[in-house]
Amino acid sequence: MHPARVVHLSSDDVSLILAFSAWELPAILHWGARITMTDDDLLQFAAAEQRPGIDNISDLPYRPSLLPEHGRGWFGRPGLSVHRDGAAWAPSFRVESIALDGTAVTQPVTQTECGSLLVRARDKQSAVEVKLEIDLTPRGLLRMRASVRNDGHHAQPLEVQDLSLALSIPTRASEILDFTGRWGHERQPQRHPVVRGTHTRPSRRGRTGLDATTTMLVGTPGFSADTGEVWMFHVGFSGNHEHALERGDGTLAFRGGELLLPGEIRLGVGEEYAGPWVYGSHGEGWDAASARFHAFLRSVSRSSRRDRPVTLNVWEAIYFDQDAATLDDLAERAAALGVERFVLDDGWFRGRSDDRAGLGDWSPDPVAWPDGLRPLADRVRELGMEFGLWVEPEMINEDSDLARAHPEWILRARSELPAAYRFQQVLDLTQPAAFAHILDTLDGLIRDIGVSYLKWDHNRDLVSAGHPASGAPAVHAQTLAVYRLIDELRARHPDLEIESCASGGGRVDLGILTRTDRIHPSDSHDPLDRPGIIRATGLLVPPEMLGSHVASAVSSVTGRTSDLHLRCAVAFLGHFGIEWDIRELDDEERAELATWIARFQRLRPLIQTGRTVGDGDDDAAAPTLRGVVAQDRSEGVFTIVTPTTTPDTLARVRFPGLDPARRYRLTASVPNTLGPPWQVPDWLRAPDLDAEGTAPILSGSVLSTVGLEFPTFHPERAVVVHLRAEAAA
Ligand code: GLA
Repeated sequence: MHPARVVHLSSDDVSLILAFSAWELPAILHWGARITMTDDDLLQFAAAEQRPGIDNISDLPYRPSLLPEHGRGWFGRPGLSVHRDGAAWAPSFRVESIALDGTAVTQPVTQTECGSLLVRARDKQSAVEVKLEIDLTPRGLLRMRASVRNDGHHAQPLEVQDLSLALSIPTRASEILDFTGRWGHERQPQRHPVVRGTHTRPSRRGRTGLDATTTMLVGTPGFSADTGEVWMFHVGFSGNHEHALERGDGTLAFRGGELLLPGEIRLGVGEEYAGPWVYGSHGEGWDAASARFHAFLRSVSRSSRRDRPVTLNVWEAIYFDQDAATLDDLAERAAALGVERFVLDDGWFRGRSDDRAGLGDWSPDPVAWPDGLRPLADRVRELGMEFGLWVEPEMINEDSDLARAHPEWILRARSELPAAYRFQQVLDLTQPAAFAHILDTLDGLIRDIGVSYLKWDHNRDLVSAGHPASGAPAVHAQTLAVYRLIDELRARHPDLEIESCASGGGRVDLGILTRTDRIHPSDSHDPLDRPGIIRATGLLVPPEMLGSHVASAVSSVTGRTSDLHLRCAVAFLGHFGIEWDIRELDDEERAELATWIARFQRLRPLIQTGRTVGDGDDDAAAPTLRGVVAQDRSEGVFTIVTPTTTPDTLARVRFPGLDPARRYRLTASVPNTLGPPWQVPDWLRAPDLDAEGTAPILSGSVLSTVGLEFPTFHPERAVVVHLRAEAAA
């Protein structure tokens, strides 16, 4: 008999206790608040958790493991669905080895800080092997990945239909917060009770999706930004995938994995399929759960290694209307404002005068750019800025030289091409020749022009995406090919930064974000819609990776008009930039924009390292608050936005995350429309952000716990507040 084992991993304020009873795959006994136990306590606990046999359930009661098995009496969704031409469909696994950070786990109890577990299990009869990788990071983020291998000697391939991890949590978590959306309005919240059955958010778009939930939060009733127990989940994959919550008889588990198309994964002898990393984070309130994701992304991303450069992207300034003189002019004006990165968007390549043609022909258009892009890039560098370029490498217009030369490089499951989206099709990057062509082309552009930043777009969902020769499904292999392409480019150009854009926020996931440096959260820059989009996207993504642009007064997406102060204040707590025709600016606007750029440059060390906090209020009529507080709580910067006209003239706002024992000096940027004749509370008469002068000094406990009264009589305005702790007396 294989002895039972208990493994207890802890880090930060999180504990994960896994039980391996007899030969079975591991089951979660506890995942949540950190607990301290002796080895003996743990053994007693594991023994006490043995399920009783009661009438009408199996004589061998089963606790669902990380990959629940139908063959052991699990009637929910199996963790692994496979078959070999109809056989081997009910595997039953025996654990063969458990290793912690490379060392075999042989003792009944193992307790350690952090760590990576590797579990190998086999079903000899079905000739299937599974591997589970389980990591608890230093900041308490849990991530898991499952792989399956065809261990058979049969010529018959093993078809994998589904591989879905189960992260069990207590049933007291009875509310779900997940997100949906559309182009220009990504990640809108929906909150609802957990009911029996499965709540599932599949994405079959071949990219993460504009309507993707991105994260799923499950918690105790009424959980908020800083209250209630919350478990937050994420599937880190940019292809088809699923976030789901499955409630059964006394069980509750997040289910996450890739969604496979029919016949997509057929493993030959010895071949392996690895599912995506599935992430989970526990915390008191969602800000605590989210902070673990931020710490993880910061530990792997290049963005965290240097100051985020203020960016100007020319898309909403000129759209497809490019010429060297206009771009030189824009570059000069950008540099004068303090911009540090200049990004040339769509429209620069051969035949691209609108969105109907050109994708695939990645060389400068000879009409718009007779001398190529090098002179512009050199001018941009001379002006002290970096040069960035828009590309959409996975895509191809039927009207392009590339499509004419290589019609066999376009993904299709049938003889005819799939329906075009935005007049474009998808290039089959799983074909070595197509992959090499795109890799060499991008590599050449980066070298020849001196590109330090790519805005990498992806503007269509994948429909009937099959390998052209066979029609076999290609989404899985295409997703991995894109990852390989990016990895190879980054290996060749270690300083290259990449933005993940997909019609705005259509590709936001940790598959892409662990190899890129920021996202474009939405094509909508409307400052009244942005706080919600940013708050939800920012659960996963730290502020410095959220591209935040100040656009024109009239939003190109919503048609709504807003003032410059509001637009700047809302864009401020992110990776700040501009996407607007700055030739239109009058002197006053130019001065105001330059002031915000300088402020961002002063405060970005805080914004790009701090902890994100927000209010937990779902009341659309209340002001929204989002802030970033230094890890040592020595300062914080907050944006408060009043969205609509409300029946109240005042609302209390709290500034979460401060040190209750310290006193903070308050400065603020207040729109001048909050001035006379309106009454403004005294604290809002503070000196301008970072200016000298007599500022209110308030205690952290009052600011965080009680809050201050904030005027809401003026709708659609924003205030930015900076709080800096006084030196101890
Ligand atoms: C997408 C992006 C935009 C812009 C256009 C260019 O819609 O989201 O920011 O780059 O493509 O065609």
